[in-house]
Amino acid sequence: MASSVMLVLLVLLASAVHVVGQPGFLSIDCGLDDKYSGYKDPDTGIFYVSDGAYTDAGQNLMVSPEYRSQVSRPQVTVRSFPSGVRNCYALPTETGAKYLVRLQANYGNHDGKNDNSSLEFDLYLGPNYWDTVYARTNVAYETVFLAWAGWAPACLVNTGRGTPYVSLLELRKLPGELYPPVTASQALAMYTRINMGAGTFTRIPVFFCCPGQRFPSDQFDRYWWASVGPQWRNLSSSSTIQLDPSFLVPSSVLQTAVTVAGNETGLTVMTWEESKTLYTFMVILHFADFQSSQPREFDIFFNGNQLGPGGRPYSPPALVSSWVYSSPWYRADDGNYNVTLVATATSALPPMLNALEIYTLVPQDSPTTFSKDFDAIMSIKLEYGVKKNWMGDPCFPSKYAWDGVKCSNTSDNVVRITSIDLSKCNLHGVISKNFTLLTALENLDLSYNNLSGSIPDSLTSLSSLQVLFIGQGGFGPVYYGRLEDNIEVAVKTRSESSSSHGLDQFLAEVESLTKVHHRNIVSLIGYCWEKDHLALVYEYMSQGSLFDHLRGKNAVGGTLNWKTRVRIVLEAAQGLDYLHKGCSPPIIHRDVKSGNILLGRNLHAKIADLGLSKTYLDDTQSHMSVTAAGTAGYMDPQYYLTGRLTESSDMYSFGIVLLEVATGEPPMVPGYGHIVQRVRQMIATGDISSVADARLGGAYDINSMWKLVDTAMLCTAESPAQRPGMAAVVAQLKESLTLEEAREKDTSTSVSRGSDIPPMASTFRPMAR
Ligand SMILES: *[C@@H]1O[C@H](CO)[C@@H](O)[C@H](O)[C@H]1NC(C)=O
Ligand SMILES: *[C@@H]1O[C@H](CO)[C@@H](O)[C@H](O)[C@H]1NC(C)=O
Ligand SMILES: *[C@@H]1O[C@H](CO)[C@@H](O)[C@H](O)[C@H]1NC(C)=O
Ligand SMILES: *[C@@H]1O[C@H](CO)[C@@H](O)[C@H](O)[C@H]1NC(C)=O
Ligand SMILES: *[C@@H]1O[C@H](CO)[C@@H](O)[C@H](O)[C@H]1NC(C)=O
Ligand SMILES: *[C@@H]1O[C@H](CO)[C@@H](O)[C@H](O)[C@H]1NC(C)=O
Ligand SMILES: *[C@@H]1O[C@H](CO)[C@@H](O)[C@H](O)[C@H]1NC(C)=O
Repeated sequence: MASSVMLVLLVLLASAVHVVGQPGFLSIDCGLDDKYSGYKDPDTGIFYVSDGAYTDAGQNLMVSPEYRSQVSRPQVTVRSFPSGVRNCYALPTETGAKYLVRLQANYGNHDGKNDNSSLEFDLYLGPNYWDTVYARTNVAYETVFLAWAGWAPACLVNTGRGTPYVSLLELRKLPGELYPPVTASQALAMYTRINMGAGTFTRIPVFFCCPGQRFPSDQFDRYWWASVGPQWRNLSSSSTIQLDPSFLVPSSVLQTAVTVAGNETGLTVMTWEESKTLYTFMVILHFADFQSSQPREFDIFFNGNQLGPGGRPYSPPALVSSWVYSSPWYRADDGNYNVTLVATATSALPPMLNALEIYTLVPQDSPTTFSKDFDAIMSIKLEYGVKKNWMGDPCFPSKYAWDGVKCSNTSDNVVRITSIDLSKCNLHGVISKNFTLLTALENLDLSYNNLSGSIPDSLTSLSSLQVLFIGQGGFGPVYYGRLEDNIEVAVKTRSESSSSHGLDQFLAEVESLTKVHHRNIVSLIGYCWEKDHLALVYEYMSQGSLFDHLRGKNAVGGTLNWKTRVRIVLEAAQGLDYLHKGCSPPIIHRDVKSGNILLGRNLHAKIADLGLSKTYLDDTQSHMSVTAAGTAGYMDPQYYLTGRLTESSDMYSFGIVLLEVATGEPPMVPGYGHIVQRVRQMIATGDISSVADARLGGAYDINSMWKLVDTAMLCTAESPAQRPGMAAVVAQLKESLTLEEAREKDTSTSVSRGSDIPPMASTFRPMAR
């Protein structure tokens, strides 16, 4: 017998261990170390988890030892947010469902200051102001809201009055029909919630422990503070009360009530003073008459305004829960409020009240990101473990929009995510299918990551997607890929339907490009053409572009020394020379710029993006007439004016690249004109150091620098006839490189060539100086 009892007991214990949570509850013990999978709070039986999965920021602290015995377990640890103005938790929700969210920030000297007198900070629910936390009051901040996306951000904002912190965060899913006043545009923040006629009244929950009632008496874990007072007579009953689906006030709460203490007819159930003019109020009164032997009828006043159906007196039904709430929202100018019930002349019984809720309005009127975009980008964030300031709503408030995320307001006033920059985020794995859910995406930059696998088909079909991996190339999205034999490739894709380019002509160009093979031209490995989609497969250039290294995102210009710069442009010149003279028919690149000189291993340079390039139709033609194309700043003014395309247009653009390399500056600086004019003015001084990129720190051979700059000036000569051919440029750059190599050798073998050595005469040196 004894052993079978033991067995039953063991089974019960075992099954209890498996009850790890309450359905619809998420209870977060903030600041709890992630190494704990969670625990069941002995006071409430509620299962708490640590908060690591819900926020990226902050640090874990504990209330100081002298407070630990006074607090319930979830309040022992806190998460504090010493850095950043705004830090958020992301609470998982179901779009359109109703939730109660509760935040507590119980001060127990976690910061060692032992002073909570002036510590304050603000709470936001998504982009909307929720409330201000005063550490000294120790109240619970609770709001009932309608979830607008798959995540509800709960944000703590530092307002300059101390470091925000939080003890616990609780999310409770509610049935949709609960709290009818809650809509997409208004949430209800709990001011107080009172179980009339039960226990001792405290408006504020007892500092560390338990309020009157919560879970499990209340299946949704609402806090009900107990209230009795000498001005009232408390009533109670054990009768079953039929619940009302709009509020589902627990029976145990409805089974106590207050009525008048003497023979008066008026029952003042609540008076309060609130100086915060921001608050506007709603009161919800819950009735269940369990003394219904005689008629009971009364008027309900909220600051003298009569509530109740049609302003008529109210008669609570017997043993059935019923309610009356105020509408519209009300704010008293003097901050004094009262709720009073007054019996009518015909009522045999005085008024009674079973429960009272008081709410303030939290308008949900700030714009939010289109919920499906929010959900998709959150999935992406979680999938890759993105470590950025990706907290709260992605687009709002715009001041705290996510890093690298751009949003725009569509015609129907929906804010969509249109651009995501996740370059250099150390992403691993495959390209998330969730990107394809961002249907308004125009720019997606995934460069400098370690992503592999196939590109989701649906991604290339995103109708607005213009650019993948940074605004490079006029062609379309670019992906990184790896062929079966492990060769790294860049894949450019394009939806032909969005093109104005004739397909036949395009394919003819591709044909001719597949024949171009030179070690200084990025080779086209192949192309695929399937239905509406074209994909070009290029060799992969792991080190980005010359632009990146000089001024772009890599911005490591300072580390590209002069010798490397000269070698890079020499290699690029050799590639261009091959296009112009080594190909039959010759090819004009048409978009020569530092962004199209790509760098592979050991920073070897190759010309890329022949997407705009043109071939002569036959050898007898000396130029072609085409619409001007290219990139501002690099475009040959002559070509722009005449539309006559010859190699000399590429020469001009290449001259601009040479000037960029020498000066480290962009072609156009607003207010300072074009690089050709700027350099011309500086050359006139005869001082090459005023031209040279200051980041070189003077570490270059002066003649090498002069030679390159001279070459650049000739390439950018106004008249195309004065510009040299690529072969001549290659020769000059080789000399420039030789000079710099000699300097390097000299420096390393001790003798330093001073700047007093006169510049060597060069065939390119303008005579005017
Ligand atoms: C917080 O403030 C309250 C009210 O001023 C005070 O009674 C309490 O001792 C303070 N708590 C701590 C830990 O300083
Ligand atoms: C009134 O409240 C007190 C304190 O909670 C309780 O002891 C008493 O029984 C209550 N009276 C009635 C009539 O319910
Ligand atoms: C109410 O009670 C008080 C004393 O308890 C008595 O003086 C008064 O007459 C009563 N009023 C009515 C209207 O019964
Ligand atoms: C309740 O509020 C009304 C309107 O402000 C006021 O006239 C009345 O005196 C108040 N009653 C109490 C008991 O405070
Ligand atoms: C979006 O545009 C509409 C119309 O121009 C404007 O009224 C609205 O305020 C904008 N919304 C946001 C969130 O910018
Ligand atoms: C997006 O991510 C979520 C969570 O990782 C996943 O469940 C869902 O299947 C993904 N959606 C698509 C279209 O891949
Ligand atoms: C990139 O990912 C592959 C496969 O996951 C891994 O073998 C490789 O080491 C990673 N490279 C870098 C630079 O992290």
